[in-house]
Amino acid sequence: MFLNVCVCVIFWFTTAKLCLSIGTDTLSKGQSLSGSQTLISKDEIFELGFFTTGTSSSHNIYLGIWYKDFPERTTVWVANRQTPLPNTTSTSILILSQNGNLGLFSNLDTFWSTNLMSTLPDSTEAVLLDNGNFILRDRSRPSVIFWQSFDHPTDTWLPESPLGFNKINGRTQHIVAWKNTEDPSPGMFSIEISQDETNEVSLLWNMSTRYFKSGAWTGRVFDSLPELSYILNFSFVSNKNETYYTYSLLNYAVFSRLVITPSGKLKQLTSLRNHNHRNWTETSVQPNNGICGAFGIYTDSLSNPCTCLQGFASVSTRPNEWLSGCSRKAPLQCGDSNSAKGKDGFLKTSKVKLPANRKVHPASNARRCKSACLQDCSCTAYTFSESGCLIWDGNLLNLQNDSSSEQSLYLKVANSELRDAKGCLDIS
Ligand SMILES: *[C@@H]1O[C@H](CO)[C@@H](O)[C@H](O)[C@H]1NC(C)=O
Ligand SMILES: *[C@@H]1O[C@H](CO)[C@@H](O)[C@H](O)[C@H]1NC(C)=O
Ligand SMILES: *[C@@H]1O[C@H](CO)[C@@H](O)[C@H](O)[C@H]1NC(C)=O
Ligand SMILES: *[C@@H]1O[C@H](CO)[C@@H](O)[C@H](O)[C@H]1NC(C)=O
Ligand SMILES: *[C@@H]1O[C@H](CO)[C@@H](O)[C@H](O)[C@H]1NC(C)=O
Ligand SMILES: *[C@@H]1O[C@H](CO)[C@@H](O)[C@H](O)[C@H]1NC(C)=O
Repeated sequence: MFLNVCVCVIFWFTTAKLCLSIGTDTLSKGQSLSGSQTLISKDEIFELGFFTTGTSSSHNIYLGIWYKDFPERTTVWVANRQTPLPNTTSTSILILSQNGNLGLFSNLDTFWSTNLMSTLPDSTEAVLLDNGNFILRDRSRPSVIFWQSFDHPTDTWLPESPLGFNKINGRTQHIVAWKNTEDPSPGMFSIEISQDETNEVSLLWNMSTRYFKSGAWTGRVFDSLPELSYILNFSFVSNKNETYYTYSLLNYAVFSRLVITPSGKLKQLTSLRNHNHRNWTETSVQPNNGICGAFGIYTDSLSNPCTCLQGFASVSTRPNEWLSGCSRKAPLQCGDSNSAKGKDGFLKTSKVKLPANRKVHPASNARRCKSACLQDCSCTAYTFSESGCLIWDGNLLNLQNDSSSEQSLYLKVANSELRDAKGCLDIS
């Protein structure tokens, strides 16, 4: 299991040449990792090393842990999420220093460190475990753990990792989403365990607004998240010192993990372990109506992630209660042939990610597509593009504002709303 690599580095504060032998899952004191070197857990489940994100020219470098052998890198932990290393000619290096701390350096600068105060024994080693936990432990007493990445999660809740709070120092653990898919710095959404008597798993915006709760823990499942327990075995631990949930996999043929996405969704992603079929599938997405509720639209905005579509108003009068969604300001005339209110029409919303639960309609041009939606009283929106006519019935869920999208959505509204909304009127 051990691959011996001999690396000679000139380390900046000693300027001495050290010759290192790196075990594949372990760093001992004085050993380091740089460039494309990685640690690989014993059964080759996880890999730790340097990676870059983004297609932009900046190419920030991070130290992270990912699942080994997936076609696309699946990062589960980032050490320096707020302090990326510059991609310059100078080498970035992770070293287990003589005082026992792990440190991340480039040039003369420290970018991240475990920052433990006391000097750790010479038998201290850093090990990447098969559950994805990167730990500092005493080799001669392996149950003595000085530091572990499980205590400092990024956006992923891995099997076997606890999530909860410490009753002695009052500290609550947060799993915090990436800012966007290319930037691991902390975003606006997070997961925590609520400290009230329910101890629900909660989703938060800006560490304050609780916009989704798991429902009560029944001892086996969460009331509002029963699907998680099809393949995950959750357990609840509460003692004098701490309260937390943790989970294991019921089916060892799969990998499964929980992630909070940059747009605030809690996703369970599952893949077969078999090398030929490694591919993550979403086995649960919550809130399943989108975080903005019916007829709400999500915008990547810090101050106001959810707004109502034009012609709609928030159902709740309280601030930040997005999940309850939006309702029509004026009822549709559709089906009411005696109405004197004038014909329903459509408002165009540009640059959106189209909502799910669409239906394909055979109409062959935009005019027919529009007329099909107008005549069908259950139709709430349509769009027409090269891929044809798509229509939506009932509530529009999971709408997202996306400046890179070429898609537009035509939303059916009452005639009175058309008069108020010039700029966007669909007069075709
Ligand atoms: C640094 O950026 C270059 C492209 O500018 C890229 O090819 C290289 O992989 C990056 N280095 C690392 C360590 O990611
Ligand atoms: C679920 O986890 C608990 C606690 O770790 C364990 O006692 C129990 O045997 C597990 N159940 C199954 C079906 O694996
Ligand atoms: C609580 O913490 C104390 C001090 O760290 C420890 O001795 C004790 O075993 C812990 N109790 C439990 C139930 O974990
Ligand atoms: C991954 O799985 C999805 C659905 O389960 C499937 O549509 C897709 O083709 C798969 N991709 C690969 C590369 O196997
Ligand atoms: C987020 O919360 C902080 C502290 O509670 C507050 O100062 C800040 O204004 C909030 N940000 C937004 C965008 O509401
Ligand atoms: C979409 O986002 C842009 C810029 O962030 C904003 O100007 C626009 O009003 C948003 N549209 C909706 C429907 O929220």
